[in-house]
Amino acid sequence: MAKKTPEPIGVIAIDGPAASGKSTVGRLLAEKLNFLYLDTGCMYRAITWAALQHEIDVADETAVTQLAHDIQIDIQPVREEDGRHYTVLVDGQDITWQLRTPAVDANVSQVSSYLGVRQEMVKRQRAFGQRGAVVMVGRDIGTVVMPDAPLKLFITASAEERARRRTRDRKTQGHSADYDRILADVQRRDKIDSSREHSPLRPAADAIRIDSTDQPPEEIVDAILQMIKEPVNGNR
Ligand code: DC
Repeated sequence: MAKKTPEPIGVIAIDGPAASGKSTVGRLLAEKLNFLYLDTGCMYRAITWAALQHEIDVADETAVTQLAHDIQIDIQPVREEDGRHYTVLVDGQDITWQLRTPAVDANVSQVSSYLGVRQEMVKRQRAFGQRGAVVMVGRDIGTVVMPDAPLKLFITASAEERARRRTRDRKTQGHSADYDRILADVQRRDKIDSSREHSPLRPAADAIRIDSTDQPPEEIVDAILQMIKEPVNGNR
């Protein structure tokens, strides 16, 4: 009997906490499969950056929600070879690197906790997902944005390992970085992201859980590609 060819996958949903390795895995996977890659966290970061830029109080839910409706966020392929993985434009302005500043880190959890902000971003993310052949990375992709995605992954790592990665990344980018402060921030954001009222961070019931603490992203990607080629009962 001829071997059955697996059905093509339209959307791969990857969720997990900050610095769990989900973005690296998602990007490598998209490259290997020739899929588009969408890091949804950068959309919440873009609104946070715009709020700070316009001196809107991030505690003002109404004003921040209005801003989320008003701003244009474009995510485009790499334009400059400066280590970026994509380019983010807000109302035409390239703010890719501004998205990673400590000020944005400190405020993004609050901005992403607002229902109106989430509804608007989920709408935009779903429109992107409808195109198919997308790897989408975030906190609520498998549970809310693309609940019918045929492959859902939930990637975690210990808080200490995630803080080590963040510290290393910031130093590589030429910034100062204090491990203890970064660890405290990772734990603070985990708490807000997991306990917020709207779309808290949690694995979808049918998500495959992967612990990246001791596993390099390349190995994880190989395992996922294997899974796609030879789906195990119940995994797809
Ligand atoms: O993945 P990240 O660190 O760039 O995400 C930034 C923030 O956005 C984080 O606090 C959680 C939030 N976020 C979210 O609520 N839903 C998503 N789909 C992606 C990110």
